[in-house]
Amino acid sequence: MIQLEDITRVYGKGDSAAFALRSVSLRVGAGAFVRIAGTSGSGKTTLLNVMGGLDSGYTGSAAVDKRDLKSMSDRELSRFRNRTVGFVFQHFHLLDHLDARQNVSVASFFSEEDGSDPAARAEEVLVRVGLESKLSRRPGELSGGQKQRVAIARALFNRPRLILADEPTGNLDTRTSGQIIELLESLNRDDGLTVVVVTHEAPLFRNATQTVRLEDGRIVAGGGT
Ligand SMILES: Nc1ncnc2c1ncn2[C@@H]1O[C@H](COP(=O)(O)OP(=O)(O)OP(=O)(O)O)[C@@H](O)[C@H]1O
Ligand SMILES: [Mg+2]
Repeated sequence: MIQLEDITRVYGKGDSAAFALRSVSLRVGAGAFVRIAGTSGSGKTTLLNVMGGLDSGYTGSAAVDKRDLKSMSDRELSRFRNRTVGFVFQHFHLLDHLDARQNVSVASFFSEEDGSDPAARAEEVLVRVGLESKLSRRPGELSGGQKQRVAIARALFNRPRLILADEPTGNLDTRTSGQIIELLESLNRDDGLTVVVVTHEAPLFRNATQTVRLEDGRIVAGGGT
């Protein structure tokens, strides 16, 4: 599903140039459950940003479902980011003054479906992540794990085929982290989503189909090529 060929990403120029990714090639099959590992600064977030079409300042080519991201128009690229990919982050990025249903419905702003009811769709995905009893709660009334479930529901709103999660358990205790990983596993196994997760928590990832290890911008294991 994802094909990265010879991706190099440099921040800055001259003496201050930082190589975030160095000639990275990677294949991720449809339906895979991928873990990305590596120390701080090894390039994990940069790699995820390239896959998700959030970063285009690289050399090399990145394709998802055989579509080259660089050849997309701005409109196609934003459609790709909003419809094909669901992003999940460490810090949830929820809006404090909105309840769970409203936080999830925010994603309808990026969908092009007219006539569908955003509140109903929000409820559907909140039920999917196990939050049917928290529809009207604001983030301040939810635990960390519940907030991350809201964020995952928001990512699911537009029916993506790919979930990209950047340290989704970074702010959670071990038990809650396990539950969030289980949810991501279930989205992969039961809903057929391809899932790529950056995480340090190897023990929770017994079911990963592929572990990609980055060191200093290079893939040292698990590139699948
Ligand atoms: N916007 C930026 N400007 C300059 N350098 C950057 C920028 N973003 C990342 N870098 C550099 O690129 C390298 C890779 O960063 P990246 O954020 O991808 O690492 P990471 O593996 O996600 O780290 P962490 O585990 O701390 O999140 C680092 O050396 C970082 O300092
Ligand atoms: Mg990072």
